Amino acid sequence: MSSKATTTSAFFKAGNDFEKVQAARPDFKRDAEVTFSKPPSPNWKQGDGANDGGECLKKTHIEIDPYEEGRPASSNYKILISGMVPRPIALISTKSKDGKTCNLAPFSYSQVINHDPPLFAVGFVGSLESAKDTVKNLVETEECVINIISEHFVEAANATAINAPYGVSEWEVSGLHQAPSAVVQAARVKESILSIEGKLVETKEFESRQVPGKKTGVLAIIEGVRFWAREDAIDGEKSVIDLKVLKPISRLGGIQYGRTTDAIEIPRPNF
Ligand SMILES: Cc1cc2nc3c(=O)[nH]c(=O)nc-3n(C[C@H](O)[C@H](O)[C@H](O)COP(=O)(O)O)c2cc1C
Repeated sequence: MSSKATTTSAFFKAGNDFEKVQAARPDFKRDAEVTFSKPPSPNWKQGDGANDGGECLKKTHIEIDPYEEGRPASSNYKILISGMVPRPIALISTKSKDGKTCNLAPFSYSQVINHDPPLFAVGFVGSLESAKDTVKNLVETEECVINIISEHFVEAANATAINAPYGVSEWEVSGLHQAPSAVVQAARVKESILSIEGKLVETKEFESRQVPGKKTGVLAIIEGVRFWAREDAIDGEKSVIDLKVLKPISRLGGIQYGRTTDAIEIPRPNF
């Protein structure tokens, strides 16, 4: 299947010369290690503020009312997804209520929001009435698996965003493999280094400000009830995931994804 055939929306169409641009880029450095450098200002002291010598204070800001006249809703989408970065991506596996079909799709309006209990928030665009397949299954079965995306299956994970009709599984399109879960019916992604079996806690539907009465978003709160960590990625206490093994992929703006190959460490302040 060509990359064009898997483009789901006009938002995500690459430019006409994208293939040329892509071909001119250097090859992916598969063996790029996570390296740690010093922070920008290793001798930073309380009260020092920004570490750029005041350069950022010389810049001016533009005020934007998200609902100013003539501003299309798509501009709010674009500013948010390009500015709130990097975002973790929950590759969510669900099963239909009748158990006959499996679904897999990525969602980057996603975050862990607590650890006791383990809680996750995921934002779905659209209403409950015309729900995405993932939302329909999640609401009907109250179960899912959240899989974390790593570099070694980024293309396959992206392929699961295909706008397949309800009942058509994205697993085949992606070539990813199902592994059995312990507590929920939905399968976990075998390629994933960290998967979390989840039970739906609640959903809240939101209404458009532009078109009153139109439901445009669903927040799902999901409780993690089982973790699956790849053996070579977790420490002896079954606590810490090794970033060098995880090699997580994050979502940036448009069709951009990020790698985490350069990290810094800064100790927590103590009063
Ligand atoms: C990396 C990535 C992140 C995405 N994040 C979201 C998101 O947070 N919320 C959303 O509604 N759709 C998101 N999408 C789009 C869905 O994955 C897409 O609509 C998909 O077809 C939904 O599948 P489903 O109908 O099988 O649930 C994202 C797509 C990609 C490629």
